[in-house]
Amino acid sequence: MTRLAVLISGTGTNLQAIIDASASGQLDAEVALVISSRPDAAGLQRAAAAGIQTVSLSRAVYIEPWAADQLIAEQVSAAGCDYIALAGYMRKIGPELVEAFPQRVINLHPALLPAFKGAQAIAEAYAYGVKVTGVTVHFVDAQYDTGPIIAQRAIAVPEGQGLEQLTERIHAVEHQLYPEVLQLLSQGRVEVIGKNVHIH
Ligand code: GRF
Repeated sequence: MTRLAVLISGTGTNLQAIIDASASGQLDAEVALVISSRPDAAGLQRAAAAGIQTVSLSRAVYIEPWAADQLIAEQVSAAGCDYIALAGYMRKIGPELVEAFPQRVINLHPALLPAFKGAQAIAEAYAYGVKVTGVTVHFVDAQYDTGPIIAQRAIAVPEGQGLEQLTERIHAVEHQLYPEVLQLLSQGRVEVIGKNVHIH
């Protein structure tokens, strides 16, 4: 069975969605390891509650960003994980880690890339006044939010909808789409040719 390492920094609602999808059989993959960039990330409790091995990295580890990535690479290899799924991981992944796991690191982004890259995507899309936004799952490459796109799901922004409500709706889409994409990966149905990702 496909083994996943999930990297988090915060509440871990996407981690929870992955754990739940795995438990219900919707996802034929197991979360074998959760790594947090912060010792106080609430997502760590979710991992512990599900009996998943956790590693939490301190701020000091990130003084040398490659040192953190190296530690992550070691832990992921030791746990025998096939994929590294970023789920609200708020640190940049360095090129060495990406190269160590080619087409094995994926990210979830709460906007339709290449629009609204970065950490404030939902609020920036809302402030821009977009009528359609959504969620992207993509492979991680050496840049930020630029790797080959595996899947996107769009939602309309209705007249009068507040940012809070939009944020909730985006998260609901994330909780659906991320496990779906992980399932495609674990079934070996995802092929990358240059920038293009084909689903078989
Ligand atoms: C998600 O919106 C994800 O797209 C973004 O960070 C958020 C993580 O939320 N990168 P959670 O920790 O999974 O609840």
